[in-house]
This record gives sequence, C-alpha cells and structure tokens, in this order.
Amino acid sequence: MSAEIEIESVLVENRVFPPFENLVKHANISGMDAYRALCDEADRDPEAFWARLGRENLVWAKPFTQALDESQAPFFHWYADGEMNVSANCLDRHLNTPVADKTAIIFESDDGKVEHVTYKQLHARVCEFANGIKALGYKAGQRAVIYMPMSIEAVVAMQACARLGIIHSVVFGGFSSKSLHERIVDVEAVLVITADEQVRGGKKIPLKPAVDEAIGFGGCESVSKVIVYRRTGTPVSWAEGRDLWMHEVCAGQAQTCEPVALSGEHPLFILYTSGSTGKPKGVQHSTAGYLLWSLMTMKWTFDAKDDDVYWCTADVGWVTGHTYITYGPLAAGLTQVVFEGVPTYPDAGRFWDMIQRHKVTVFYTAPTAIRSLIKLAESTPAVHPREYDLRSLRILGSVGEPINPEAWMWYYKQVGGERCPVLDTWWQTETGAHMITPLPGATPLKPGSCTLPLPGIAAAVVDETGEEVERGKGGFLVIKRPWPSMVRTIWGDPERFKKSYFPPELKGWYLAGDGAQRDSDGYFWIMGRIDDVLNVSGHRLGTMEVESVLVAHELVAEAAVVGRPDETTGEALVAFVVLKRPLPQGDEAVAIAKQLRDWVGKEIGPIAKPKDIRFGENLPKTRSGKIMRRLLRVVAKGEEITQDVSTLENPAILQQLSQSV
Ligand code: WT7
Repeated sequence: MSAEIEIESVLVENRVFPPFENLVKHANISGMDAYRALCDEADRDPEAFWARLGRENLVWAKPFTQALDESQAPFFHWYADGEMNVSANCLDRHLNTPVADKTAIIFESDDGKVEHVTYKQLHARVCEFANGIKALGYKAGQRAVIYMPMSIEAVVAMQACARLGIIHSVVFGGFSSKSLHERIVDVEAVLVITADEQVRGGKKIPLKPAVDEAIGFGGCESVSKVIVYRRTGTPVSWAEGRDLWMHEVCAGQAQTCEPVALSGEHPLFILYTSGSTGKPKGVQHSTAGYLLWSLMTMKWTFDAKDDDVYWCTADVGWVTGHTYITYGPLAAGLTQVVFEGVPTYPDAGRFWDMIQRHKVTVFYTAPTAIRSLIKLAESTPAVHPREYDLRSLRILGSVGEPINPEAWMWYYKQVGGERCPVLDTWWQTETGAHMITPLPGATPLKPGSCTLPLPGIAAAVVDETGEEVERGKGGFLVIKRPWPSMVRTIWGDPERFKKSYFPPELKGWYLAGDGAQRDSDGYFWIMGRIDDVLNVSGHRLGTMEVESVLVAHELVAEAAVVGRPDETTGEALVAFVVLKRPLPQGDEAVAIAKQLRDWVGKEIGPIAKPKDIRFGENLPKTRSGKIMRRLLRVVAKGEEITQDVSTLENPAILQQLSQSV
C-alpha cells in the first residue's frame, strides 16, 4: 500500500433527490427505516445475519451448520459445510413454479434478430451441454476457459460448468491471443469453449483463430478439447481429435442432468483483473457466498420483481456480466435482455430502441457508454432518447467508474424522464457484487455519490494507520468485516492475495484500492484508484502491465504509462517511451507510435492501446533513478509544472515529453 494518497478532489454535488413514492411503496427494501433495520441486524450479529440470508435465499442440497469460518483469516470461508449447486439455484429452483414458462433470456443479435428462451428451455440447453462435457470425461475441480461472444451459448457454457463444478475462467473476447494464452496456462485449463467468430457493430471478429494461436504458443498441453459454438459459419481451421462443435457435443444428450452438490466454498470461477504489478490476478470466487450476494443485490439494489424486464449491457467477459447476467438475474427468476452488439450500431439510438421494443424496466450500463451517447444524441437529434418511448423504465443503474454529475443528470433526465432513480453502484471484481449503492425505494440520491453501504457491508474510509478519517477528508476505502461474496484468493498466489488486500497496517480489513471520502451525511464519494491501476471505459488496466508489454518491443528501451482524465473514456493511457534509437521526428515518429500501439493491441487487446504516445531521450527520474510518475501525470494533462523539480536528474527532458506525436 502506497503511503501517498494522491487524490484529486471531486466536485461534491449538493443536490439531493428523495426516493419516488411509488417505488418506496412497493420496494423490497421500503424506506430508510427498513434499510437501517437490516443494517442494525447485521451489526448486532453479522454471522447470524448472513446465516439467515443464506438459509432463506438459497436452495441447499445439504444445509450448512456454520455460516462463517474465520480460523484461516484472511482466507475466510462461508457456508463451507453446506452443499449446493449454483446452476440448480439459477434454473432448477424455478422448474416447478410459474417461472418455468417465463422468458429467461431475450437475446438480440448485432443485426437485430431476437430469440426468446424460457427458463425450462434454458435448463434443458444447459443440461444437454453439461451432459456433453461430462461425456468427454471432465469433472468437478477442473478448469475451462471460455472465450465467447455475448450469446445464449455463453450463458449456457458458464451454467453448464457450474452444474458440473468445473471452474470457469471467462476471457473477454476483446483480449488478444497472448492474453488468452496467459490465462489458459495460469489456470491449466483442460477445456476451451469458444466460437468461430463474434459479430459486433456489423463486423465479424475471429475468435477460434485466436484460440489456435494461443494454444500454438506452447505450454497448453493441459487442453485436451476445444469446443466451438458456430456463430457465423465462416470456415475455421480444425484440429482433428481436439476440436468439436458445440452442437455436436450437445446432440443426442439428455435434457436433464443431475447438478453436482458442491461445498459452499467450491470455486465457481476465476476471473482475471489488473493489479498494480505486471501480471493480471486470477480472482477466485466461491459457490454459495458469491451466489447469495449476487441474488440479494438483485433483490435489494435492483428491486427485482416478477414482471421486470431487466437489461445489463455488460459483457460476460467482465465480472458485471458474471454477476448481473449469468448468475444474479437467473437466480432471481427475471426476464433479461442479452445483447450481442454495441450501443452505436446501426446508430447511437440502439439502446433506446431496444428499451422501447423490449419494454425494459431496469437498465444497467456504464458511465462511459452514457457519455459517448450524450455526445451523439446532442449532435444527432434522431438518436436522442426523447425520440423513443422509454416509459417502461423504472430503475437506472451505473457501474464501473465514477459517474460525473453532468452524465448522471443527463441519464436521470433524458433517459429516466425524471421518474427513475440512478443507482451508482460501487463494487469490484474482488467484491463479487454491489457493496456501496443507493436503494431505489429508500436512499436519497446525490449525483456523483454511490451513497451508502448495503446492509452487512462494513465500509469505512481510513488513513494509512487504520484510523478513520474525518468527514470530508480523503483516505483509503476499506471493508472492516468479511462478506460472503468476497474474493477467496488469487489463483495460485495466496501470498499476493494477502499482500494486495490485507496489508498488516490495516488490522485485517479488506483494502479496496480506491480512495474515497465521506460527506457530512456519511455518503461515500469514490475518488479513483490509489494504486497504479487505471480505469479506461470502465475497464481496469494496470499501468505496469502496459509498460512491460511496451518494453518487450524490440525498439523500446524504457517506458512509463500514466493516466489522464478523458471526457469519454474516464481515463486515457499516455505512454512515455524512450527508444533504443535516436529520437524520432515527424512521419517516423507517427509510424513508430502506430507500431507500438498495434503491438499493445496484439499483446493485451485493443482496450490497452495508449491514446497518446510521447517520445523522449530519457524519462524524468530522481537522482536515485526512480521514475517520477507524478510529474508525468502533470505533463500528460498538458498542465504547467508547479512542483519542485530540483531533485530531478534531467529537468530538460520534460520539454521533450510534453510533445504529442
Ligand atoms: C474498480 C473496479 C464494478 C464492476 C465492474 C468493474 C472502479 C467501479 C465504481 C463506481 C466509482 C467505480 C473502482 C473499482 N469503480 N464502480 N460506481 N464509482 N468507481 O470492476 O474492473 O474490478 O474495477 O472500478 O476504481 O476499484 P473492476
């Protein structure tokens, strides 16, 4: 944990929006008193609170006798002696209820084709695929990597793994074959599930070739089969004996498949996310605790109701897609929209058009999407939300990064028609589900604040000695008590888990890695990361990760990557690069910058490409040789340097680095 908290103060909004009466009346948590009663229950006896929720909300094959085991802290164990199955809790639990014939998924493809699948049908498809995987000899505890487009099949693949206790690791389809390779090797995957191609914004993007390339890099001997969902039918190369079509794996399989009863602690999935060092961390989540909080937050934050049409626009390659597409909404028995495409195709009215056509009631998206749609709507009146009938909406959600008050207000007014609360949900890959968020039928809203912690979540803002800071002062966001959906470990690296999240100064509390402050009402205002992690379009990227890729390029001697605020993407990457050759000028500089950007795209994925690359003969360093990142952040913003640069070894370098290519 770095001692230096460098947080830019946020614009603290003082407008307050009380909850809407009609929502308060029918909400699952109705009014602040109901919220406080749950908080009190959790504070009085946390374990009893979580035990009650676990008993009342999950279906157990064998009931647990102990909710929380702290004996190996910070490796907390929840519901460990109970047995259950996540897929049974998402599908089978609905089979003998009216939900069975309700639509589970309304799938809309990039080109606008719509397919409805009921809970009964989804259950049958998951069972067929699970039986097919089982017939290939795979079993609980083994790992499968999933590299698929947004599709019913991706949900089926994840659910089928969960049904058998196979631990999945989903890799976002936008990641490169190199990133895919790294993850296949790290989890020692026995199975890869992919598609021939994905389709986004009218373009076909190959997936299977990336899998072939990843396996071709070597070290993937653990992989015995690659199962391919045929999305576009474009011919793909085929390794006989290794590659199988998903429809052939499913063909002739029974439409029922006994869910495997697993310990509450059985790992459900591993999802990689960026940390402050070069290598992404494999965040490991559990069975019971994870599903419990996914479901509770559907009920509490999104106020899940039987007649909702819910839509989360995330990709299943991120944690938001895991919790709020594949698991939470299904456990809650909701009808949800799953969308293959992008918000700007065929035009920037796509989201509004889909909300109108499918009569979406709860809509959950990212600030970066809202910000880019604001620009387009304000310049092209035909795609402005006011041109669509959005009266079906009752709740709006935001996730992934701070939502600036201007974007909040636009979302609230133009999309929600001043009738829907905007829920700014703060959480992380590691927390599994929402942590600090407004409740639609209780919490007064302040644009730009994620408001108050959910019942049972002991959030606080502390200084580096663990003392709670005064209201209005910035500090480290910590969670003082374990909660069921918390990260269990970093796959294969328990030491890194302890070091990253439970630093000794902080008394065993979970360190989130975000700076925050609380206002006089106790509301939380998130102020960005305290480590070298950036948030670009709601995606977490480690600066070290990008740096290590840049220095691996043959032309590069040294590189430093920092973030700069960006109107649309929240933050943007700026790379400062020293080449092994003389400082390039003009066209040559442009050509090398392009080469480096493409290289990063190939090594990590397009999202990691630096927006701005600057060449210098050196980087600003202290006399002891430490790169002065703080200074680089100022240079990246194009601001004047007011800091003391007397400790700098080579002050002249700053002039060079202020020039963009
Ligand atoms: C980081 C976690 C949350 C799931 C998707 C991203 C930032 C997330 C908010 C918010 C301000 C937010 C934090 C956090 N973040 N939500 N509502 N307000 N910042 O998960 O990739 O693990 O990223 O995203 O910095 O630490 P992730």
